[in-house]
Amino acid sequence: MSSSDFRCRVAVLGATGLVGRTMIKVLEERNFPVSDIVPLASSRSVGQVITFKGREFIIREPSKEAFQGVDIALFSAGAKASREWAQIAAGEGAIVIDNSSAFRMDADVPLVVPEVNPGDIFKGDGTPEPIIANPNCSTIQMVVVLKPLHDRFGLKRVVVSTYQSVTGKGKVGRDALESELAGEKQDEFTHFHQIAFNAVPQIDAFTENGYTKEEMKMVNETRKIMGDDAISVSPTTVRIPVYGGHGESLNIELERDFDIDELRELLRTSPGIILQDDPSARLYPMPLTSYERDEVFVGRIRRDYWHPRTLNMWIVADNLRKGAATNAVQIAEVVVAKN
Ligand SMILES: NC(=O)c1ccc[n+]([C@@H]2O[C@H](COP(=O)([O-])OP(=O)(O)OC[C@H]3O[C@@H](n4cnc5c(N)ncnc54)[C@H](OP(=O)(O)O)[C@@H]3O)[C@@H](O)[C@H]2O)c1
Repeated sequence: MSSSDFRCRVAVLGATGLVGRTMIKVLEERNFPVSDIVPLASSRSVGQVITFKGREFIIREPSKEAFQGVDIALFSAGAKASREWAQIAAGEGAIVIDNSSAFRMDADVPLVVPEVNPGDIFKGDGTPEPIIANPNCSTIQMVVVLKPLHDRFGLKRVVVSTYQSVTGKGKVGRDALESELAGEKQDEFTHFHQIAFNAVPQIDAFTENGYTKEEMKMVNETRKIMGDDAISVSPTTVRIPVYGGHGESLNIELERDFDIDELRELLRTSPGIILQDDPSARLYPMPLTSYERDEVFVGRIRRDYWHPRTLNMWIVADNLRKGAATNAVQIAEVVVAKN
C-alpha cells in the first residue's frame, strides 16, 4: 500500500457536541485520510446520523467494541467520559487525542499545540504517546502567539484578560444565551449570572487562591506546553455574550528589548498566525471575523510605554476550531505524517 492509500478509522467521542461536530467538519475540510468515522455520544443521541463526505454514520454509545480497529480517537465528551474511555480506547490500539481537562497535567501525557511543541507527541522510540491532551481553548490561542516571542526575546510575564464566547461552555452555554435573549425564564443561570447583555468575570469554579480553575489552566498549561516553569501568567477570564471566538488582551513583558516593527514581522511570519493590525483602517481581530477560521488573529500591537520591554496586543481565535477541533486534528495529522 502506498502512503497515499493509507486511511484511518477515526472515532469521535462527543460527536453531537459543538466541538465534536466541528471535528467532523475539520476532518472533512482538511482532507484527513479517513476510511470510516465512528461517531459516539451519550444514550440520548444513539441512532442519530452524522454525515461525512456524503456518507452517513450512525451514532453509538462508547464501548470496548466500538473502539476496535480505531486508529485515532478524538475525545470531546467531557473529563468524566475521557477518564472512563481513554485507557480502553488506547488498549484497543487507538491514539487518543483528548479535548477534556482529564489528563492535561499528567506527567506522562503530552499537552500539545502543533505550532509550539509537536515533538512532545512522540516517545523516545519515535512512536506516538497513546494519549495526547489538547490544551484549554484560552491557552491554545495564547501560546501560539507567545512561542515565537519566547524564542526570539525571552518571555518573562504575561497579564491576560479574556473575553470568552458562550460556546466555550458547549451546547448548554450557547442555548443559555439564546433563551435569555428570547426572554425565557431560567431556573438556574448556566453562566452563574445572566449572560445576555452582561459580562461575567467567572469561568468555572474558584480555587483556594482566588483564581478560577479556567485561570489556573492558563497558568499551568502554558508552562507545560512551553516547557518553562519560570513563565508567569496572570489571568482574568471573563465570559461575554458572543459567538465566534474568544478574545484576549495580552500585556507581555519580555527579557530582551525589541523593535516593534521587527516583532510585528516576526508574528506575521510565524505559523498559525494572521496579522490584522492596521488601526488607520480599523483593522483588528474580532470574534465575528475569526468565526470558522483555523488561525489565531493578532492586532492592536503596541509598545507599553510605561513599562520596559513590554507590549500590548489583542488576539482572537475560534474556540471551537483552533481552541479545540482544529488543534486536535492537527495533532492527528502530525501522528499520521510520522507513522
Ligand atoms: N466548547 C469549547 O470551546 C471547547 C474548547 C476546548 C475544549 N472543550 C472540551 O471539549 C469537550 C466537549 O465540549 P463541547 O463544547 O463540545 O460540549 P457539548 O456541546 O456539551 O457536547 C458534549 C458532547 O459529549 C457527549 N457526551 C456527554 N456525556 C457523555 C457520555 N457520558 N458518554 C458519551 N458521550 C457523552 C454529548 O452527547 P449528547 O449530545 O448525546 O449529550 C455531546 O456529544 C469538553 O470536555 C470541553 O471541556 C470545549
